[in-house]
Amino acid sequence: VPQGEAEWRAPVVTVMGHVDHGKTKLLDRIRETNVVAKEAGGITQHIGAYRAQVDNKFVTFIDTPGHEAFTAMRARGAGVTDIVVLVVAADDGVMPQTIEAIDHAKAAHVPIVVAINKIDRADADPNRVMQQLSEYGLVPEAWGGDTIMVELSALQNLGVDDLLEQLVVLAEVLELTSTKVGRAKGVVLEANLDPGRGPVATVIVKQGVLRVGSNLVAGPAFGRVKALIDEAGNPVHEAEPSTPVQVLGFSEVPSAGDEFRETAELSVARQIGSMREQRIRLAGLSAQSG
Ligand code: GTP
Ligand code: NA
Ligand code: MG
Repeated sequence: VPQGEAEWRAPVVTVMGHVDHGKTKLLDRIRETNVVAKEAGGITQHIGAYRAQVDNKFVTFIDTPGHEAFTAMRARGAGVTDIVVLVVAADDGVMPQTIEAIDHAKAAHVPIVVAINKIDRADADPNRVMQQLSEYGLVPEAWGGDTIMVELSALQNLGVDDLLEQLVVLAEVLELTSTKVGRAKGVVLEANLDPGRGPVATVIVKQGVLRVGSNLVAGPAFGRVKALIDEAGNPVHEAEPSTPVQVLGFSEVPSAGDEFRETAELSVARQIGSMREQRIRLAGLSAQSG
């Protein structure tokens, strides 16, 4: 396997926090979109991955659901990211999924940047939020700690630029690199069976360049990339490290959280996939009989 030169790559930033604290609204503000308005019941139910340009550099954002039912998605989000932005509504304060998000970030050894949101509200109390977070080891820089905390209003577009600036600085400190050389590798964020297009997987590339025609295996699923679709729904020829992209061409729906990797030949991907399939089946049989 050729060892490529390490190159700068875009930071992957996962936005986490309690339900309705304003994660999607914040990303809408950053991307100048309105995803919140299209969500059923205003509840995020999947992982969204987007790129935004900040100071001419790309930042990849992953939106996660705050509803308590989606623990696995939050764990996955924390697992693929370089930085967690923890959104805490200044009126509501620290809540159960705020604490859960802190735990996921700590388990994944990922730095946390706190976005204290909804400061436009009359009952907003950012100091109380800082006090509460301090009890979980997140002490603001202003109080002698080392956690970056930014007060903002996603609704009124206050402080959002501050947050972006802090993220870019932190990304530089982290010196994030990858290589575009060698076989592509990455993680499946989510996947589903599309009636028209077959298995569709949203992946994030971590290393190498994923291309149309690449042979892939992810868990028991394998296939040759038929098409790559970017977040805007446009077909693209390739996806570099830190880029989220939809992959068409898998034999079956891969599991969210699975790693994917490229193989030289499709037959190798198929072989690895069917070996895993078999192992999964055997494990199922022995669980039944045991
Ligand atoms: P889940 O994904 O379901 O966990 O929610 P979320 O954290 O993505 O929250 P979302 O962005 O859907 O916002 C929830 C509600 O809070 C919406 O009605 C937003 O318009 C509102 N909201 C978000 N940010 C702000 C803010 O800065 N100020 C005020 N007043 N309301 C906000
Ligand atoms: Na919501
Ligand atoms: Mg949301």
